[in-house]
Amino acid sequence: MLTKSIQKAAFGLVVGLSVSLPVVAQTAAEKAIDRYRELVADGNPAELWEAKGEDLWKKKRGPKNASLEKCDLGLGPGVVKGAYVSLPRYFDDVKKVQDLETRIVTCMDQHQGIKAKAAVYDRDDHKDVISLVAWIASESRGMPVNVPQSHPEEKRMYEVGKRVFFYRAGPYDFACATCHAADNTRIRLQGLPNLTNNEPAGKAFTSWPAYRVSNAQVWPMQKRLEDCFRQQRFPYVEFGSDVTIALSSYMGVTGKGVKSLAPTIKR
Ligand code: HEC
Repeated sequence: MLTKSIQKAAFGLVVGLSVSLPVVAQTAAEKAIDRYRELVADGNPAELWEAKGEDLWKKKRGPKNASLEKCDLGLGPGVVKGAYVSLPRYFDDVKKVQDLETRIVTCMDQHQGIKAKAAVYDRDDHKDVISLVAWIASESRGMPVNVPQSHPEEKRMYEVGKRVFFYRAGPYDFACATCHAADNTRIRLQGLPNLTNNEPAGKAFTSWPAYRVSNAQVWPMQKRLEDCFRQQRFPYVEFGSDVTIALSSYMGVTGKGVKSLAPTIKR
């Protein structure tokens, strides 16, 4: 017998991708989700974003009619492999710690003269940023997370991120830690990773960008965090805000050594 919640989940999944899920009795909700993931893993639609991202990296665009092939993602101009697993990091040209998304926005500006109004998620230039993130992340698949902590600003961002993670406020007095600091917890069908532990932190950190079946969109980490702040009933957090980068630093450093998964596919 399917429980009501599994039926609901299966319904959501089927509607999301318009394929039919075999209706078999499942012993646990999570098994249904796992099976579903297996079924769709072969054709993660994020691959379409990856292909577009690679194209955008190589194409001459913008007022400067240049590609992004000289963009420095932290490992030297044009080096893409390994960049995703070693961000956020400090960049001397902007004198701050940047994550992959904010770094791409800087590179589009520096090299191409494109001012991506990245704050608005559904704008086309932001979709370009997401495609680039998807491709760049895919180039680090399987590589161990190695977010640097040698520059004082990198250490500071980690410490800020840790504090933000445990900071309780808002109408429900929630912190990230309220939902993400214990093992084996979930809200309805969604497992809540314990982000204070190495392996779950590394997996969560490298799970984004992810293709979200529920809304047929690719979400990068900035968007993931914005939605968690919403669930926390905190004020809207703007794209690129230092607080998001600090949280990424905290998760990335905590997840050191875990092999990168992104882009993934999610409910
Ligand atoms: C009210 C509970 C709640 C709070 C508070 C919350 N989250 Fe989440 N978070 C969730 C849920 C639920 C999911 C899973 C969503 C899904 O599967 O669609 C999630 C997913 C995530 C993920 C992705 C995990 C993965 O493996 O893909 C990350 C990263 C994350 N949260 C970080 C944070 C951070 C950082 C904060 C604090 C700013 C936070 N969350 C606050 C409920 C919460």
